[in-house]
Amino acid sequence: MLKWKVLVALTAVFITTHISAAFLPPVQSKQGMIVSSQRLASLVGQHILHEGGNAVDAAVAVGYALAVVHPCCGNLGGGGFMTIHLRSGKNVFINFRETAPANIKPALFLKDGKVDRQLALHSYLAVGVPGTVMGLNTALKKFGSLSLQQVMAPAIKLAKQGFILSHGDVNILRRYTDDFRKQPNVAAIFLPNGQPLQVGQRLKQPQLAHTLEAISEQGSRVFYHGWIAQEIVQAAQKDHGVLSMQDFVRYKVHVEKPLECHYRGDQILTGPPPSSGVIICEILKTLQAYPLKNLGFHSALATHLNAEAMRFAFYDRNHYLGDPRFVKNPLKQLLSAEHIHSIRQQIKPFFATPSSQIKSNIQLIANNPNTTHYSIMDAKGNAVAVTYTLNGLFGNKRIAGKTGFFLNNELDDFAIVAGAPNLFKLVQGKANLIAPNKQPLSSMSPTIVMKNNKVYMVLGAAGGSTIITSIVQAIENVVDFGMNINMAINQPRFHMQWLPDKIYYEPFALSADTQATLRKMGYQLQLGAPYHTKRWGQMAAIRVNPKTGAFEGANDNRRPAGLAVG
Ligand code: DON
Repeated sequence: MLKWKVLVALTAVFITTHISAAFLPPVQSKQGMIVSSQRLASLVGQHILHEGGNAVDAAVAVGYALAVVHPCCGNLGGGGFMTIHLRSGKNVFINFRETAPANIKPALFLKDGKVDRQLALHSYLAVGVPGTVMGLNTALKKFGSLSLQQVMAPAIKLAKQGFILSHGDVNILRRYTDDFRKQPNVAAIFLPNGQPLQVGQRLKQPQLAHTLEAISEQGSRVFYHGWIAQEIVQAAQKDHGVLSMQDFVRYKVHVEKPLECHYRGDQILTGPPPSSGVIICEILKTLQAYPLKNLGFHSALATHLNAEAMRFAFYDRNHYLGDPRFVKNPLKQLLSAEHIHSIRQQIKPFFATPSSQIKSNIQLIANNPNTTHYSIMDAKGNAVAVTYTLNGLFGNKRIAGKTGFFLNNELDDFAIVAGAPNLFKLVQGKANLIAPNKQPLSSMSPTIVMKNNKVYMVLGAAGGSTIITSIVQAIENVVDFGMNINMAINQPRFHMQWLPDKIYYEPFALSADTQATLRKMGYQLQLGAPYHTKRWGQMAAIRVNPKTGAFEGANDNRRPAGLAVG
């Protein structure tokens, strides 16, 4: 550690740490705050809070509304996680991740001994049993105060009466015109008269409205035991799928405790496996020993330390984490002082560690293997962070029969074969191997940060593997660099995930000097995400101003259709 102290003393002399930049201030309110990636869904949440609902009621209403107004990512056909802090002080994590069908086998995905990427992403073989409907309904029943009919009414209205498309909405829909054209029932909704939808046009979804009405009247049963499951099973049988009614009937959500850790005195509540909250904790705990503030925002040294902490933590993620009902996740060991110390010992001040040289020091005890985030707080003291997903944008791009909603391609989050990279180029091993009735490991980690036992931040991200590093950088930007929440989530980001052995960076994230220094340290740099977009992720975050108690909400400019509203 001494070498670091000397280095910091030197850099502190030269680097100005006060950051002020021309960002809009966050949206402020004392009555409550909703941030989601589609403005109409945020307004639904606001309406529910106005009606006297709590943050959980609003979260369920926003979840259903996003399934209508943000069909790429908001969903009924996917799954996710919800982290809740209740005003009573109780903390809850709801796991409604998709589950693999009982008849899944890795061999089904292989062609000539290799994973067929088309099958893994664009067929019914990719579909896990969706968890969203049971997840939202469970949250409402346990922690909400309004009826299912009350919270679903706005979503049903939006689907029935339609909504006017903005530029941000159309930008997302336009990306998949060719895929929509291949499926007549998808084209009938999203390519009226064979043409892509235009800004200003009204999108009505009567089939989806019918599905939502059935859920609103009959609850989860119609989805898991009734005609909705039957439609999905029938469609799956015609397109490589192995889903059965039994898979739907057997589906369960898990109501658990969030994973906890501390960063510079603040308490972090985040997702236990199959979420990746422990990796956020591992990165932050590693970084805690270094004076990032003095090193400077996105300076070569601060970037190096972050990248190394990310590299070691992703190595652990990709080797040890998986569905806790199938593998033992060594959570205590990953966050132990010894393990974090050993990571710091291996980080060299001026050189990148080649990913190929990392060795494990975790002894496993008996081995039993497109997204959207929204954040909500109410004035009563409840906070909810939800990340849910179809995996790819519009999932597997399929809608079963007349159900009106897209299905996920979540099974690609497994290692179908150990070492075969997935959509996010994650190279994962045995713990996350695909298996019947198992949940794939996820990067989604809805997170709540507590300061002095009060909610301080509610945040989370979309973006596959970059979710983890986006959340880490947002927390650092607030805690270490003193940014407001809007600046914190809208800064350009960088990302490292062990393999491929590269730092990925967004435009303007790293100056030319920083890039040159990092290259000299041995890093390979690549502009854009591991999955070929220049900018990545979508965050929706709230910070409670410790001085005024006001909620400060911020939407991510990367999803301009979104809105923070108080
Ligand atoms: O659960 C996961 O880690 C991925 N299925 C998330 C996908 C995602 O974030 C895509 N989004 N933009």
